[in-house]
Order: sequence, then C-alpha cells, then structure tokens
Amino acid sequence: MRRLVAGTGWKMNNGIAASRRYAEELKARIAPLDTSAIDIYVLPPFTSLAAAAQAFAGSPVAVGGQNMHWEDSGSWTGEISAPMLLEAGCRYVELAHSERLQHFGETYAQVRRKVDKAMSAGLVPVVCLGESAPEKAEGRADAVLAGQLLASIDGQPDERIPEIILAYEPRWAIGAAEAASPSYVEERHRALRAVLREHRGESVAERTRIIYGGSVTPENGGAILALGDVDGLFVGRAAWEPGGFARIVELVAGAAKRKAAARKP
Ligand code: PGA
Repeated sequence: MRRLVAGTGWKMNNGIAASRRYAEELKARIAPLDTSAIDIYVLPPFTSLAAAAQAFAGSPVAVGGQNMHWEDSGSWTGEISAPMLLEAGCRYVELAHSERLQHFGETYAQVRRKVDKAMSAGLVPVVCLGESAPEKAEGRADAVLAGQLLASIDGQPDERIPEIILAYEPRWAIGAAEAASPSYVEERHRALRAVLREHRGESVAERTRIIYGGSVTPENGGAILALGDVDGLFVGRAAWEPGGFARIVELVAGAAKRKAAARKP
C-alpha cells in the first residue's frame, strides 16, 4: 500500500514572517483531520526553510527545499547543498521542477547526480517528470517521460527506488488555466509505472509513489486522486493560501481512507 502524498511548492513566495503565519494557520486548519495515513510537505524558499521547519515542528507537515546542488560544499556560488537543507530541518527536496529546467538550464544528467546525493544524505527526493506541449502534440509524451525517469534513477539500487517520490507534472499544465484531464493523467501514470515494472520489476513498480502536479485545485483534485495509479497531489497556486492547502490535505486524507478500504477483502 502506497502512502498518499499532499505537497505544495511555494516557489518564490513567502519570506520568513509569511512562512510562520502560513504554518500557524495550516496547523490549525488541519488539526481536526486524521492525517496519520498520508505524507504532507511544504517547500518554502531557502531563506524561509529554517523558520518554516521550526514552525511546523511536531506537526504532520514536513518541510523541503525546492532545489539542491549535488556537492556537499565548494565553489558553487548561489547554490545550496544537501547538508544545508538537512541542517535547516528539511526532510524532502524537489528536483527537476520544469521552471528549473526551462529558466535555469538544468538537465536530467544533473538531476541524476542530485538524486544520488539526496538519497545518500537521507533526503526524500521529489523528482518532477513532464512533457512539453510540443512533445505532447507529437505523441511523444510517454517516450519523453520514460527517458526522464530512467535518467533520474540511473545507478540507484532497486530497493531504494520506492524511497523516491515521482511527480508527473506536464509542463503545459503548470501555471495553466486547467489541469490535465483525469484520463490523460491516468494514461501517463500507468505508462510511468509500466516503465518502472519493465526496468526495475513488479515490487518496485507497486511500491513507488507517483503524484500529479499541474494546476491542481480543491475542485479538480478529487477526480485525479481517485485514479488507481495516482498517489497524491503536488500543488502550486491553489495551495499558496493555507486554506487552499488544508482543503487539498483533506482530499488526500479522504482518498487514503477510500483506497485503503477498497483494498480490504
Ligand atoms: P500550479 O503549479 O499548481 O500553480 O500549476 C504546480 C507546480 O509547479 O508544481
């Protein structure tokens, strides 16, 4: 049984004071919910990480970075390392977000090194995978996704793959007016799981979480979460207010109960 995930990346929003306010309000809003069966994370900007980690301490909400370098230290101006994220109180790190790839020229060859470092440091990597609009139009989505996935996990032993969270985030659906349709999401998640099965075996495929991100809202999230191969939601704009994320957390906690009940004989 895969634990469902509710995550939000704040991108370049929320300084220290705003992060503390967000944390207090989110904690209050999710306190009445049973979140014991799900994993919850928020990804603040680097300068807010320590304050956010402190504010969420003792709550079900973990904190993570939005990016990371593959070396521990050195002459890498403007970069942040895994030990720094850990010291700031992080448990997760997002890698390969499309804005990093598009605007800052990151590549999956770099992502592979970052995954390697995150895993050895004890951070949970959330690895984004997604096809562009032209790749979708050319019918190449699954081939592109397979290439990104295999590049990201190259060199990782089978038994550690399920510790990685894969985030399917079609580039054309990020920051867009609408999410991908549930049927489109279902096909891509199924194809990604098939790649895992083919290359890493049934057990890895069954245990690895694949979450969806890209214009998720409390309104469209339920239909996406109901899909068998979708193991959680990764939300941007709709979770930038704590009330929005609280509604996403509630959806995911409810879906976890339903999926668990459906598995009982
Ligand atoms: P969005 O962002 O929900 O605002 O589309 C998603 C993401 O970038 O992960």
